[in-house]
Amino acid sequence: MALKKHRPGALAIEQTRDLAAVRAMLERAAMLTDGVEAPSSCYLLAYIGDEPVGVVGIEPRLDAALIRSLYVADAVRSRGLGAKLVAAARKAAHTRGARHLYLFSTEAGEFFHRLGFERVPVVETVKAMRGAPQIEYYRARPEELAREVTWHLDISRDGVIER
Ligand SMILES: CC(C)(COP(=O)(O)OP(=O)(O)OC[C@H]1O[C@@H](n2cnc3c(N)ncnc32)[C@H](O)[C@@H]1OP(=O)(O)O)[C@@H](O)C(=O)NCCC(=O)NCCS
Repeated sequence: MALKKHRPGALAIEQTRDLAAVRAMLERAAMLTDGVEAPSSCYLLAYIGDEPVGVVGIEPRLDAALIRSLYVADAVRSRGLGAKLVAAARKAAHTRGARHLYLFSTEAGEFFHRLGFERVPVVETVKAMRGAPQIEYYRARPEELAREVTWHLDISRDGVIER
């Protein structure tokens, strides 16, 4: 259950253990929920006040992480929240040792491209992220995997201070 601690009307993005809330939000959006409870994964919820309005997940794997389950509620779209959730996921992945971010997106590729992601062959993503729950979901469903599109962002220089 979310703690009632947010400032009314203020945006907060925080890591959550409330996977039931994550699952409920993704189910309402008819998005993939398989693997949400995987112990190595990390989910962030965005709140406006105490109202959950967005979600993103990361599945870390050695020096890479898969971003998944990015969703922003219709009523609060186009205010930069999606980009903020990706930035928060990027930071969470980096602090867990990731130097590369990958994700699946057939519908929102242009959104991710604007944030610096480049399209990469699905086989490259599968190879880099083998063992991650969403990868195993698709490996078990080759027909779905064949329709997918994947994206990559090098974050190896995040946190480096140039002098
Ligand atoms: C994609 C999504 C998370 C963006 O959330 P958001 O809070 O509106 O994002 P931002 O405000 O940071 O950016 C909005 C911009 O992204 C663009 N954008 C949003 N969805 C897009 C899509 N599917 N394809 C291309 N561009 C898209 C918007 O047109 C907008 O551009 P504008 O500012 O020029 O009008 C949201 O639209 C969503 O939840 N979509 C459904 C789920 C989904 O597609 N998730 C990604 C699956 S991997």
